[in-house]
Amino acid sequence: MGKGFYISRPLGFVLCGLGIVAMLTIFSLSVVYTKEKRKNQVTAINETGMVTTAAPHTTPAPSNEPWDKYRLPDTLLPEYYNVTLWPRLVPDEQGMYIFTGTSGVALTCIKETNLIIIHSNKLNYTLTLENHHAKLTGLGGTSAPAILKTWFQTQTQFMVILLNEKLEVGKSYWLYMEFRGELSDDLAGFYRSQYTENGVKKVVATTQMQATAARNAFPCFDEPSMKAVFHLTLQHPPETVALANGMELGTESITIEDKKLLQTRFKPTEKMSTYLLAFVISEFTKIQSSEKTNVLIRIWGRKEAIESGQGDYALNVTFPILKYFENYYNTTYPLSKSDQVALPDFAAGAMENWGLVTYREQSLFYDPKESSNGDKEWVVTVIAHELAHMWFGNLVTMRWWNDLWLNEGFASYVSYLGADYAEPTWNIKDLMVLQQVQRAFAVDALVSSHPLSSREDEVITPDQISQLFDTITYSKGAAVLRMLSEFLTESVFAKGLHNYLHEYAYSNTVYTDLWKKLQEVNADSRIQLPASIKEIMNRWILQMGYPVVTIDTRTGNISQQHFLIHPEAVVEKPSDYNYEWFVPITWMKSGSNMGQHWLLTKTALYEPMKTGTDWLLANLNVMGYYRVNYDPQNWERLLTQLTTDHKVRLSIKAVIPVLNRGQIIDDAFNLARAQIINITLALRTTKYLLKEKEYIPWESAIRNLQYFFLMFDRTEVYGPLQTYLRRNVQPLFDHFQNITSNWTQKPPRYMDQSNQINAISMACRTGVKGCSELTRMWYRQWMKNPDSNPIPPNLKNTVYCNAIAAGGVEEWDFGWQMFKKSTIAAEAEKLLYGLSCTKEPWLLNRYLEFTIDPKQVRKQDAAFAIVYISGNVIGQPLVWDFVRAKWEQITKDYDDGSFFFGRLIQGITKKFSTEFELKQLQRLKEDIAASSFSFGTQAIEQAIEKTKANIKWVSKNKAQVMNWLTEQST
Ligand SMILES: *[C@@H]1O[C@H](CO)[C@@H](O)[C@H](O)[C@H]1NC(C)=O
Ligand SMILES: *[C@@H]1O[C@H](CO)[C@@H](O)[C@H](O)[C@H]1NC(C)=O
Ligand SMILES: *[C@@H]1O[C@H](CO)[C@@H](O)[C@H](O)[C@H]1NC(C)=O
Ligand SMILES: [Zn+2]
Repeated sequence: MGKGFYISRPLGFVLCGLGIVAMLTIFSLSVVYTKEKRKNQVTAINETGMVTTAAPHTTPAPSNEPWDKYRLPDTLLPEYYNVTLWPRLVPDEQGMYIFTGTSGVALTCIKETNLIIIHSNKLNYTLTLENHHAKLTGLGGTSAPAILKTWFQTQTQFMVILLNEKLEVGKSYWLYMEFRGELSDDLAGFYRSQYTENGVKKVVATTQMQATAARNAFPCFDEPSMKAVFHLTLQHPPETVALANGMELGTESITIEDKKLLQTRFKPTEKMSTYLLAFVISEFTKIQSSEKTNVLIRIWGRKEAIESGQGDYALNVTFPILKYFENYYNTTYPLSKSDQVALPDFAAGAMENWGLVTYREQSLFYDPKESSNGDKEWVVTVIAHELAHMWFGNLVTMRWWNDLWLNEGFASYVSYLGADYAEPTWNIKDLMVLQQVQRAFAVDALVSSHPLSSREDEVITPDQISQLFDTITYSKGAAVLRMLSEFLTESVFAKGLHNYLHEYAYSNTVYTDLWKKLQEVNADSRIQLPASIKEIMNRWILQMGYPVVTIDTRTGNISQQHFLIHPEAVVEKPSDYNYEWFVPITWMKSGSNMGQHWLLTKTALYEPMKTGTDWLLANLNVMGYYRVNYDPQNWERLLTQLTTDHKVRLSIKAVIPVLNRGQIIDDAFNLARAQIINITLALRTTKYLLKEKEYIPWESAIRNLQYFFLMFDRTEVYGPLQTYLRRNVQPLFDHFQNITSNWTQKPPRYMDQSNQINAISMACRTGVKGCSELTRMWYRQWMKNPDSNPIPPNLKNTVYCNAIAAGGVEEWDFGWQMFKKSTIAAEAEKLLYGLSCTKEPWLLNRYLEFTIDPKQVRKQDAAFAIVYISGNVIGQPLVWDFVRAKWEQITKDYDDGSFFFGRLIQGITKKFSTEFELKQLQRLKEDIAASSFSFGTQAIEQAIEKTKANIKWVSKNKAQVMNWLTEQST
């Protein structure tokens, strides 16, 4: 999916007041919801008429039968489908929302077989002709064998058709079926979304097929390499409009079962994978491009949102981004239209359905008056991510899900290039370091990480596929491709891409096909590599983790070592490459210029890295996916340089680039957590912040200090930590007060606008004078005049949080009313967060009750709200009690049980660092193990692991941290 299947919200903005960063990354997978249900749902009923998904083999013993394997046999290929669907947007007599449909598929036999195995999940079939669930005829004069019997394999999600004779190789057949399914609210397959407009409830029928839910909408060969052409027809109520991947061909009025309906037919799709199909039936309205182009661009959504201009920004950036990618790939956009739809209920961030991209409202809508920079940045990068997939992923598709990392890593990487083209003044490409590289560094430093690339046979079941949509796939994928593009140069990289897209258009690939194309192009360029692209890249994608490169500037010795955040961790997975990498090291020295060197072995001597009294800095602009450590003297020289003048521009001295200023902090803190360097050295990298005004170093520091807040905000270290940070942030706060003319204007530079948020949230959090007054004043003004919010959109998160924290029930109730009234998703989310900041336990308890009432808080947001509350030092124990008391109910009521619960556990236990908390966690684990719920255990295991590591870290570092902080204030 777009930032697909996954979203991570633009989280800068969530850092706030007394709150704790609720850094949530959602890997939302339709998947997750159904996991538990699927396991239990095996019923066999045979009667005439509607027949349920019947499974004669209810206990799938290990078997070699083709229908017990999850992968399709290689006997048949689909050519095209004719699908007609009719979703009911009102419930039937039983209160169920359903859809009915018919589907025919032309399939060609490529290996003799008397079986047709086709995916089908949660669909009930009509017994059609011949008293079977399907009808088979021959195409092109062929005669078809008779059907002996049909049945359903619930576990593997197949419909199996046994024939009395074999199908003939080279011949084509037409398989026809009639079925019905539930249009449920589980956000997967063909599902429904709801919203209210002028007091009237509206129902939308929409889809989310990735990864394995097309089979929930109609029977199909639901694997990415089973590309086919889809002829789609939708039947829908007269007041609605129907959209699909292809352009509408025409709409006519029809009457079925005495109901007046519209029937819309669509242009047949290009040859494509099932997971990229989409259809939406709604009362949405649209805006469309007026520019004369050969691509029709339309933005769809709720009438109210579109009419108030929330889709305008998306419309404005779509065309430039499409043009940018056409140019970058040197390949024209393959379709004649590009529809983008914002849905009120959507599991992921967005989904790159070919020609009909679907979004969470927050990922497509932007309101200039109400939304923040972070919101805008999110919109433009998600759009760029999805549009990048139109070629990479959709035109050329991975053969199987094990190569998902290439698809998603690539889109995540180039989304910044597309967004940069649309917003050239932002320097958005720099943000990759914070948003992708550092994020990947964090999870990839655990022994529980995994290599980017998996073997095809390791990823078989829908659950295994869903688990791939994770940080490694997206962010490490992006980081590693960025490094590749850097050492190849962007022009070689882009040319290779073009050749790749050209050669494999409308078909499927494995990742080595890309290496091959890049290698061919590189042969013509003058870039010298120490080995083939495949040899270099294998080390980065076939083994997990990454190196820390240690440079001894006294001797010129350089070495690499697998970086692990927990010093006692034992790596159990073997690697063919011994956890060594081919590392492209770039460096600069204070006295002279820059250089580049490949480290190909564990250790090497490289004289030019020797320095006298100069400092040396490696991994320029953090283009390489590795951390850097130095000899103590060089660390000192770097620190001195930072504190004396962090951005010297004297001609003889080089500048420490802003990205490296951030990375020095991030590397130092992580090296300290891994016990490679001393914790005080890490803390010392923050001293120069007194003079720093740039966003990226500040943001790096705040993220790393977050751990200190988590561990120490209930201990005696908290006071000195506050004092130290207050002193550091004071000049930043003053600086922004100045450049905004006492908070009345927006700073001109984009990065400054982002850093202003840090200035205020850190200032309020640490008690800088004037900060709390400022936020309360804004909030009070708003309360006096609710129709005109005076709070600068960028600062809303932090202002809501601080004002609600400083206020009482009146402030809270006002915020809640505004939340309920809000028609802007991004605004609602900020309030959802702000409300969690109150210090009143009873308000927090009441809020908690609201979160699990879907009438109050949408299901898609419930876990966020609960985790936000647990970030509040007062809320944390309340949430812990709440979840322990209600986990059975929560997991039952929320379809995505295990996933939801996993997120909760992860968020709630972040602060755990005492033996007592560890015991409580272990108790919960036992309770769950003793219950009938099988899930959540993995999340709890991880939480136990982390809690143990926290206990160790605190006992080892607390005294030192305390001493160092105390020294600073004397
Ligand atoms: C249901 O199927 C079973 C096994 O196929 C058969 O023995 C039984 O008679 C059928 N029942 C009905 C009501 O058709
Ligand atoms: C499928 O639909 C197309 C377009 O409507 C039509 O031309 C074709 O005959 C249909 N195929 C079959 C086998 O019904
Ligand atoms: C399918 O059949 C099962 C068993 O009869 C029933 O519970 C379910 O509601 C049916 N689904 C639809 C959409 O009709
Ligand atoms: Zn994606």
